[in-house]
Amino acid sequence: MNLFNRHAVGTHAEPAARRARVLPRLMAPLVLAGLIPAMPALAQDAAPPATEAATATLHADRPGAPIHRDVFGQFAEHLGHGIYGGIWVGKSSRIPNDAGYRRDVLAALKAINVPMVRWPGGCFADEYHWRDGIGATKDRPVKVNTNWGGVNEDNSFGTHEYFGLMDRLGASTYVAANLGSAPPAETAQWVEYITAPEGTTKLAKERQRNGHAAPWKIQYLGIGNELWGCGGNMRPEYAADLTNRYAQFAKSANGPMLKIASGPSDSNYEWTDALMRIAGKNIDGLALHYYTRPRDKDWNDKGAALGFPEREWATTMSHTLAMEEFITKHSAIMDKYDPAKRVMLAVDEWGTWYDPTPGTNPGFLEQQNSLRDAVVAGLNLNIFAHHSDRVRMAAIAQMVNVLQAMLLTDGPRMVKTPTYWVFDLYKSWQGATALPIEVTSPWYHKDEVAVPSVSASAVRDTAGQVHVALVNLDPNRAVPLSVSLGNLQASQAAGRIITGTAMDAHNSFDQPDVVTPQPFTAAQVANGTLSVTLPAKSVVVLDLR
Ligand code: AHR
Repeated sequence: MNLFNRHAVGTHAEPAARRARVLPRLMAPLVLAGLIPAMPALAQDAAPPATEAATATLHADRPGAPIHRDVFGQFAEHLGHGIYGGIWVGKSSRIPNDAGYRRDVLAALKAINVPMVRWPGGCFADEYHWRDGIGATKDRPVKVNTNWGGVNEDNSFGTHEYFGLMDRLGASTYVAANLGSAPPAETAQWVEYITAPEGTTKLAKERQRNGHAAPWKIQYLGIGNELWGCGGNMRPEYAADLTNRYAQFAKSANGPMLKIASGPSDSNYEWTDALMRIAGKNIDGLALHYYTRPRDKDWNDKGAALGFPEREWATTMSHTLAMEEFITKHSAIMDKYDPAKRVMLAVDEWGTWYDPTPGTNPGFLEQQNSLRDAVVAGLNLNIFAHHSDRVRMAAIAQMVNVLQAMLLTDGPRMVKTPTYWVFDLYKSWQGATALPIEVTSPWYHKDEVAVPSVSASAVRDTAGQVHVALVNLDPNRAVPLSVSLGNLQASQAAGRIITGTAMDAHNSFDQPDVVTPQPFTAAQVANGTLSVTLPAKSVVVLDLR
């Protein structure tokens, strides 16, 4: 049994996410059969019943796989103000900048140790031609960004600007190549332009004339994006054949370059099977894209980022927990072809996707970010930690100003979102070793939705210190939790908490510090047990000493 996957489920074998969606129909017989924990009364509108306690067991003596730092990666696409205005303002801007990069944004991203950034798309990648983004800025062609808002793309942020950003952040590079609308030679030449040793090939000399003599490294090369959709509407077998072809000709001259195939979305298991069967030997990773939408029936009606009803808090949580099931099932298919887990599952697009902020260009995917997003981030990061053997890279969509962003900007102003603060809390997870933690949790109910309230992950960092992340997704009730620490010697636990009074508590340019981490000292360790009461709608990270 994979202890990392056991989430408050008693002995019932179905993954938590699916149960959450079907629970109302199935619940009564299962409870009678003793297969799932008994639940509190279902009358949501009545006064909350007495709070049930959660229990957990930490298995510090059974370390799992390391959590790769790139699991905390980011996605930055040429989309709305994700790049232009958000990261790049140009050297002549009055916004304080370092050679064109916003200084406030750089400092904020460095503070959370951004380990990797995927660029330039997304859907944009399969229409991007790298030659448009090199050479003198004034000579670069202006094109229309047909995917995102139909605005002009002046290509002033190109290859050199991306690698300059990565150098400043000290981050791994993830270049997403165009498979949908460019021949394989274009990808091969871009890789050569970036990686060929100084003074060697014609392309290396061109790079030098453009201002960078030394080669850069490409840690990850994306072989197309969403080939089942905006990348070319392909059948999986055709996409797999093309993946083999493009992967064959892209050769880094500067160290290892992991090739990431365009993988499935959500529960498209047929895609995973075909890609692994046909192309599995030629790739190093398969991308999984999954977005959380409060309403997931119609992409034109996803639900608002702020001012939403509690029912949409609940569906957001249950839809987020579906990530556990998707990763588990895609991984099981990958195991058939790759039992040694050489090929990673790279969740390189994840996060919340709401209706756009009213009054903004709908193609810019701008949305506010609230305490709900912080809880979603904690749940997903815990799920990735449970699967650290297969999920070795991920990228939240997107880093600045787009979807579930770390940072929002407005002209010279910048604000850190609740999601940013969750990434700050989880910094110790980067490069740490996952430790199994089994949780038995009370349930949170709203209308037909029922989900376990408490999610957890635990790690031992490289200095040997153990950290525990605890999420209480119940927006109404605190949950007392006791964690059996087994043979772990600890006498103190303290850390930080992110919570708030309203479900949609958020930071704005006028009030930037409504949701920020606060010291959390209400945890005790005695007789090998960690005792803590998790406030409603909170993310708590504790350091054990
Ligand atoms: O992140 C926004 C878009 O979502 C990406 O461009 C695409 O890959 C996905 O559909």
